[in-house]
Amino acid sequence: MRPPAPPRLWLLLPLLLCCLRAAAPPPDSLSQLAAPQHPKIRLYNLEQVLSWESPSPVNDTRPVVYSVQYKYIVGEWHDVTVKSIGVNCTQITATECDFTAAGLSKGFLLHFNVTLRLRAELGELVSAWVTMPWFLHYRNVTVGPPKHIMVTPREGTLVIVVSPPFEVDTSEATFLYTVHYEEKPGMQQVKGPLQSNFILLDNLKPFRIYCLQVEAQLFWNTQRIIRPGQLSNTSCYETTADAYAKQQQVIGISVGTLLSLLLLAGACFFLVLKYGSVVKYLFRTPPSIPAQIEEYLKDPVQPILEALDKDISQKDDTWNSVSVISFPEKEREDVL
Ligand SMILES: *[C@@H]1O[C@H](CO)[C@@H](O)[C@H](O)[C@H]1NC(C)=O
Ligand SMILES: *[C@@H]1O[C@H](CO)[C@@H](O)[C@H](O)[C@H]1NC(C)=O
Ligand SMILES: *[C@@H]1O[C@H](CO)[C@@H](O)[C@H](O)[C@H]1NC(C)=O
Ligand SMILES: *[C@@H]1O[C@H](CO)[C@@H](O)[C@H](O)[C@H]1NC(C)=O
Ligand SMILES: *[C@@H]1O[C@H](CO)[C@@H](O)[C@H](O)[C@H]1NC(C)=O
Repeated sequence: MRPPAPPRLWLLLPLLLCCLRAAAPPPDSLSQLAAPQHPKIRLYNLEQVLSWESPSPVNDTRPVVYSVQYKYIVGEWHDVTVKSIGVNCTQITATECDFTAAGLSKGFLLHFNVTLRLRAELGELVSAWVTMPWFLHYRNVTVGPPKHIMVTPREGTLVIVVSPPFEVDTSEATFLYTVHYEEKPGMQQVKGPLQSNFILLDNLKPFRIYCLQVEAQLFWNTQRIIRPGQLSNTSCYETTADAYAKQQQVIGISVGTLLSLLLLAGACFFLVLKYGSVVKYLFRTPPSIPAQIEEYLKDPVQPILEALDKDISQKDDTWNSVSVISFPEKEREDVL
């Protein structure tokens, strides 16, 4: 009888270990695909965008694709698809997922607590999931400046009307507006926060330049949380006169107008008095006939042309002696 051969058992041991290892869940090093890098969530006004960078390049001709999942405070992970959210962020080649892409989706509700995760995929290979910090739009949003700011300078006052950076459900949240302003050069002053989008900066000096910026804070009613807003660009305006100065101006203009009217009336009256007779004469006398023609008409024998000629030659002499300018005049008459 031969004894059992112990070396054979030793031979089986590595095989056993190998099988045990294969059955264990694969650690990251075995997934062989690097995860997306530097993921960021952008929450600006109503925008919700997750973006990332592709992992280090892989030795493969096929493109790496990415899949995004979301979950609420309780519940399972769900794929981001057209059906669930309105946009398809499953196996996409792009390196961003715009949950609020224009016309497609409104994204996650602003008061929902949302957690996102994403991974890279390449054929059968997948990367580990990268889980983002949770966000709640009303809590995490970056609020931009008011969309429109309309400023009307008035008497020692600036009337400001602003429109909100974006529309919110007013039962959930409202905007509070703050104006930072200063007289150039001068100290910075603040008006607000105010709930109204109609703001009056009064008690300003007339005819001065004021520069201002407006901030819209987002006030989340139910949680009583305020998100600061970004300041608008600086814009400057000149105030007009204040009420008193304006009144003085109006009185000045009225008095001035009245005085000039009186003056004009006086002048007319004076002219009529002084030249009244002339005016009357001009209007009364019928158009008269020149004396020489009248004479000729009375005595047709006298040659009219001769009489005219004599008259002209007399003038001619005087002109000749005076200047050269009269020369062409003479020539013309010679021709005649
Ligand atoms: C990676 O690509 C190079 C050519 O770019 C090739 O020579 C090499 O065999 C590839 N390696 C693997 C593991 O596919
Ligand atoms: C949002 O949900 C996470 C868990 O997903 C939780 O840790 C966090 O406290 C929640 N935030 C709020 C404000 O409820
Ligand atoms: C999502 O988009 C990718 C690439 O554009 C496409 O391959 C995939 O089939 C789409 N998924 C769905 C569910 O439409
Ligand atoms: C949202 O804000 C909370 C604190 O209020 C913070 O813990 C969380 O990381 C923020 N989420 C994101 C995505 O920045
Ligand atoms: C504010 O100014 C910057 C740079 O001067 C400009 O790019 C931006 O469009 C301005 N914003 C508004 C709302 O006018």
